[in-house]
Amino acid sequence: MREVTPRRIIEMKGKEKITMITAYDYPSALIADKAGIDIIFVGDSLGMVVYGEKNTLNVSMEQMVLHTGAVAKAVKRALVLADMPFASYEIDVEEGVRNAVRLIRAGADAVKIEGGYDHRKLVRKLVRMGIPVMGHTGLTPQRYLQLGGYRLMGETEEEIEEILRDAKSLEKSGAFAIVIEFTLADVARLVTEEVSIPTIGIGAGPYVDGQVLVWHDVLGLYENQPPFAKRYANLREVILEALVKFREDVKAGRFPGRDHYWEFLDKEDFEGKK
Ligand code: KIV
Ligand code: NA
Repeated sequence: MREVTPRRIIEMKGKEKITMITAYDYPSALIADKAGIDIIFVGDSLGMVVYGEKNTLNVSMEQMVLHTGAVAKAVKRALVLADMPFASYEIDVEEGVRNAVRLIRAGADAVKIEGGYDHRKLVRKLVRMGIPVMGHTGLTPQRYLQLGGYRLMGETEEEIEEILRDAKSLEKSGAFAIVIEFTLADVARLVTEEVSIPTIGIGAGPYVDGQVLVWHDVLGLYENQPPFAKRYANLREVILEALVKFREDVKAGRFPGRDHYWEFLDKEDFEGKK
């Protein structure tokens, strides 16, 4: 078992902010774990940032299983969380359970579903059989078509009621944490005060128990970054510069140079690997 457990995440509420970031592959997950992030999350946002889709509706269980497997192989410390993709848990509880089990067997420590109240039976069943669950309220991107695109949630009384109902239902059904996406900060604060489990915000202001961001947004690798994400690096520029240098080196005959072909290599580095 990894060091960060759902129990540990619950204990952090009110004491220490929880950090969470998405990762979709082995090398990225290695870095995220080394950085000391608490939860490494294979989000269905991979449909957009890795596969180039316009929304998350085409993400399959197969994709989630493969990417979860790659991330799980890298992570020693953080809690590995995997998203249940669109239509993998809404049809009936049984199908939801089977799909959650696939993600756990791929190496996840917990699964995340969008919504709360509508899935209370599934959440209860998963928790009772030993699969930790995180919920997700506010903007739920899998309802993209119904919502008419991605937009701020919790501006009307009706939306606030729905968000609170989801959060309370998740708490009652045994979920260990709740993502709150793209709401007014005061709505996220209200939810955070009303439930005993941690809330993890994205575009939901500072009055929550933790923050989650998408890998490609943090590192400057995605052009349609949402306005609430913070870019901590511009890897797109770093990568572009490296690739242009490689191209120029080859065209100019500078690569491979003496230190990159066999006759001139330091043979000790390659003992037995000829
Ligand atoms: O898939 C994802 O990246 C998410 C986060 C935005 C919470 O669900
Ligand atoms: Na998601």
